[in-house]
Amino acid sequence: MFDHAIDRSQAKPALYKDVTGSLAALLEGETDALANVANAVGLLFGALDRINWCGVYVLRGGELVLGPFQGKPACVRIAVGKGVCGSAAARRQTVVVPDVNAFPGHIACDAASRSEIVVPILVGGALVGVLDVDAPETDRFDAEDRAGIEAFVAALGPRVDWGRL
Ligand code: SME
Repeated sequence: MFDHAIDRSQAKPALYKDVTGSLAALLEGETDALANVANAVGLLFGALDRINWCGVYVLRGGELVLGPFQGKPACVRIAVGKGVCGSAAARRQTVVVPDVNAFPGHIACDAASRSEIVVPILVGGALVGVLDVDAPETDRFDAEDRAGIEAFVAALGPRVDWGRL
């Protein structure tokens, strides 16, 4: 059983280092893609305070399709280029939105969401999906969150057989 508790009160760099280290331990020895992505999302959702949604959209047949997540049910399909998720996928770059009401084309899934970060998941240079984290307050994600979540995604990408998700 995995029982490493994350101390949510740590400074952000230490917190994210802890979370990414825990991810490696959590996925160690398991090859099932669905189980590993589900556990990764559960780990991150449990480690961060002041968030209301955390999940993965997987690139399937050229569009983003909802994968494992924590939070309220969300829109299932997002075209590449649409919304925050589709923008991050199209640009292959992280998109941080301090105020979703000020982002043209933002797709509202949970009305409580006020700010959002979406990090593309790239494996060997190929886009396989995005990780989306939403918060019920504006300006939730700063440069330390961005660096930490990008490191988490960089660790997750190669540990999952995305073609089998
Ligand atoms: N807000 C996202 C859609 C996904 S949900 O927030 C879970 C977007 O604009 O792409």
